[in-house]
Amino acid sequence: MPLALGIETSCDDTSVSLTKSNGEVLFLEACGQNQIHSSFGGIVPELASRNHGLYLLPLIEKALKKAPLSQIDIIAFTSRPGLLGSLLVGFLTGKTLGLFLNKPFLGVNHIEGHIFSSFLRDSSKPEKVPTFPFLALIVSGSHTHLYLVKDFGHSLLLGATLDDAAGEALDKFGKMLEFSWPGGPQIDEWAKKNTSKILFFSKIQTPGLSFSFSGIKSAGRRLLEGHSPQWLKKHLPALCDSYQQTIVRHLMEKLDAAWALNPSCDIAIGGGVSANSFFRKCLNQWAKKKGVKCFLPEKPYCTDNAAMIAYTGIHYFLKKNLSLFPSLCSPNHLEKDFFKFEKSERNFF
Ligand code: KG4
Ligand code: ZN
Repeated sequence: MPLALGIETSCDDTSVSLTKSNGEVLFLEACGQNQIHSSFGGIVPELASRNHGLYLLPLIEKALKKAPLSQIDIIAFTSRPGLLGSLLVGFLTGKTLGLFLNKPFLGVNHIEGHIFSSFLRDSSKPEKVPTFPFLALIVSGSHTHLYLVKDFGHSLLLGATLDDAAGEALDKFGKMLEFSWPGGPQIDEWAKKNTSKILFFSKIQTPGLSFSFSGIKSAGRRLLEGHSPQWLKKHLPALCDSYQQTIVRHLMEKLDAAWALNPSCDIAIGGGVSANSFFRKCLNQWAKKKGVKCFLPEKPYCTDNAAMIAYTGIHYFLKKNLSLFPSLCSPNHLEKDFFKFEKSERNFF
């Protein structure tokens, strides 16, 4: 079974994986940097890239204890989007290993990696694969995108956020609440403690299949500015629950609309926000009600990880012409990967 070594360094997580083409993850480990960046209230790019430089090689060494180099067919690293300095660490490491070991290496688009993250699994779990074409909703700290995925490297963009990403809106509200960064997981935890029915935010309205999260972020700021710290403390669970629910209901409304236009399609969800417990509950309930096959990534594969990069890379290796790969040696390498998406001809925005 073809095997890829995956490297993900697009943001602040240094992650390395060994993943088979059937989605089986043999090895996945990451070094996060939340504590390093938390006191700055967001990621400091210079610190992120320096720390990738420290963490990456020891992680690769650890991975190679699981499978010898001779068993690895390709080396895949994240090509874009992401922080340039961080991407360069993964790119240069992957490319050097590839050239030195005479193995094919390629850049994988981070968003495309998230699209296929629900295909990943532990060795103990059965293979799970949505049927092409399928609808993919990617909800992360920097993206909120709806695609019709036709194949590896071939997707149609159906809708996207007009302003902030859903994860960004959660993290920024978390910052206003003085949570450590990123705030999304803590909002999730506080929301679970809510027993009140108060809804502090009104429904988000956008045209077609577009999303918007900057309005709720401003509404959150205004609400907090208008109340005392005591009031805030008392209503913290209700505030978190209400904010999270409004965001998730907006995501669900657009997913439902996209599915109504493509009713025979399976659904794949990806991106860090797919770890959110309320979102997962809504997705599972909705899928059951509609009779849709909805694939959610398992928790380790929701947030940034190298397994999704390795998996997507190995499928390019299996499907595409390998003579394309050396083009990654060109100076504009970081602009080169194979993920192409067209904007839908119908105006969904
Ligand atoms: O995909 P990801 O790891 O990085 C990007 O590509 O952006 O997503 C990170 C985002 C952050 O905004 C984080 O707050 C959010 O995922 N996130 C969550 C949860 N876990 C991670 N948001 C809500 N609930 C969670 N449990
Ligand atoms: Zn991501």
